[in-house]
Amino acid sequence: MKIRYLGHSAFQIKTEKHEILIDPFIDDNPVSPIKSKDVKPDFIILTHAHSDHLGDSIKIGTRDNPLFICVNELAEWLKTKGLNAHNMHIGGSREFDFGKVKFTIAHHGSSTPDGRYAGEPAGVILNINGKTLYHTGDTGLFYDMKLIGEMNNIDYLFIPIGDNFTMGIDDAVKAVEFINPKVVIPIHYNTFGIIEANPQLFKEKVEANGFKCYVMKFGEEIEV
Ligand code: NI
Ligand code: MN
Repeated sequence: MKIRYLGHSAFQIKTEKHEILIDPFIDDNPVSPIKSKDVKPDFIILTHAHSDHLGDSIKIGTRDNPLFICVNELAEWLKTKGLNAHNMHIGGSREFDFGKVKFTIAHHGSSTPDGRYAGEPAGVILNINGKTLYHTGDTGLFYDMKLIGEMNNIDYLFIPIGDNFTMGIDDAVKAVEFINPKVVIPIHYNTFGIIEANPQLFKEKVEANGFKCYVMKFGEEIEV
């Protein structure tokens, strides 16, 4: 499969048969090299409803009719916009045509652009083509990451380092120790001035602890 990082928390995953987007903040994302017209998802996974994650969901959803996968309250809100959504919640997992999705806790908030409570924010663990990906969503550091690491053999961990709204570098370095992934990829930084962070500093600190870090360029695609 191919994993393309669109900057911020947004990813485009392509398997042989499906295109999956995570947190498709694209058109207003100053660091995304592509626009929403360049994607055609079969599925959209949302960690929470803040505008830098919900992004172009309504526009893309209305155009391409993908299946949204997210927590119940947000799924119900998407349905009021005429979109197709599958309701899940934290701790729950389910097999879809492309692979398995499980929602985890995340310590953060979540509200829709019209100011409604959108359920709890989440992280997501995906099992696709034999690989396990953990996208933490927006979150602070929490000790249950240790449990998540014990119960899942994480191949790729996507973790925020931008501070202010989420973990900063030092907390993210500790999170990597807890989760024990094969490779960590930093996200949610340098999109805006308020979340400026140096991914090379994160990489140095993580690698000093014996973990492997790969800094994806905004727009870069990797084959895994
Ligand atoms: Ni957020
Ligand atoms: Mn965010």
